[in-house]
Amino acid sequence: MDPLRLTDLHGSLADPVLAAMEFLNEVAHRYPEAVSFAPGRPYEEFFDVEDLHRYLRTFHRHLVEDQGMDAAGARRTLFQYGRTKGIIHDLIARNLAEDEAVHVDPESIVVTVGAQEAMLLVLRALRADPHDVLLAVSPVYVGITGAARLVEMPVLPVRDGPAGVDLDDLTAAARRARAAGLRPRALYVVPDFANPSGATLDRRLRSELLRVAADEDLLILEDNPYRLFGSTDDRPPTLKALGGDRVVSLGSYAKTGFPGARIGYAVADQPVDVGDGHTIPLADQLSRLKSMITVNTPPIAQAVIGGLLLEHGHSLVKANTREIEVYRRNREQVLDGLAARLPDAHRLGVRWNSPAGGFFIVVTVPFPVDDALLERSAREHRVLWTPMHHFYGDGTAMPHLRLSVSLLTPDEIDLGLDRLAEFITDHARQAGT
Ligand SMILES: Cc1ncc(COP(=O)(O)O)c(C=O)c1O
Repeated sequence: MDPLRLTDLHGSLADPVLAAMEFLNEVAHRYPEAVSFAPGRPYEEFFDVEDLHRYLRTFHRHLVEDQGMDAAGARRTLFQYGRTKGIIHDLIARNLAEDEAVHVDPESIVVTVGAQEAMLLVLRALRADPHDVLLAVSPVYVGITGAARLVEMPVLPVRDGPAGVDLDDLTAAARRARAAGLRPRALYVVPDFANPSGATLDRRLRSELLRVAADEDLLILEDNPYRLFGSTDDRPPTLKALGGDRVVSLGSYAKTGFPGARIGYAVADQPVDVGDGHTIPLADQLSRLKSMITVNTPPIAQAVIGGLLLEHGHSLVKANTREIEVYRRNREQVLDGLAARLPDAHRLGVRWNSPAGGFFIVVTVPFPVDDALLERSAREHRVLWTPMHHFYGDGTAMPHLRLSVSLLTPDEIDLGLDRLAEFITDHARQAGT
């Protein structure tokens, strides 16, 4: 058979957004001795295989003792094909009530294979025809851009601005799209410690955002995997708590549980008018789509996350006390370490933001940052980070790089910062001459 031609395959396969992850992984693979501030992976030191066994047993006991299943029923729940919308929806609803004071009908929850599948399902449902477009606060997580490419839904950027989202630009973008004959369906936003910017929307801006969304008739897609990793008191409410069915929540247990389970969810309690005066929740439509993508989320993985929730009184805040502390420690070590190693940053034209939570810090430098420069940083300085242009989608180099503080130990951070400071100083001096 002759080789297939890339140009004869789906356009997304040639899209730089889909190639981005591959490239970043490949560089990390080629320079294993480099200290990497690149991946937004959770801390690994607390992973314990025994937890998996215990969580599974805890969930099994829950099926029998709390749900009243007999032995055959509990066995079937774990081993068989299962309910398309999932088997831990009630535990997720309790988790949202416990940690966020968000009260939703468990039937409006679809348990998915990571937040990634939830994004794909929601965009697939919303993209009815070529006029439908998504608005997204830019810079934007590549997972949503990639999912949009798969369903051929254009993504129109909305400026983030100093506060995390520029509402005037949101209104203007929605109106511009409509004037061009397009139909903006939703705004994607990460309101707490965003990936990649680290920005958090304050309480007032959240209310105003919801008002603009209502005026412009937009759904909000709220994605919030890093929300818990900041101060636990005095958190602004989630958009879901404030906005009710104006908001679809995209949930992930990748950072608050662990990514190996690949468990996420969508809360989609929006009524869908199916004619004859009947409505059914959007979750049921997402479930239909899911039945043709992953059939159901693996019950074994759901059981492990279910056990984790049960053992911590349905609270991920309680389940993550050690992790919250580690991420705070790491963040402070990186911020203090940058200041100590780059005392003349201002003169060099180097600065960085100081997020109060989450995994990510953005460093602004006086030179363009592209993939070739990352490669040089890996080869010559043995330190990795993520070029920010990947989060803008058009491949143009930007003077920003993203550091992730989540995965490294204190010794690795010190070593990595020594190398990073050397890299930045060298290149800033070259740029200045
Ligand atoms: C903004 C954002 N959403 C979602 C996810 C995780 O999604 P998943 O649950 O598919 O691992 C990430 C992980 O990097 C992320 O940064």
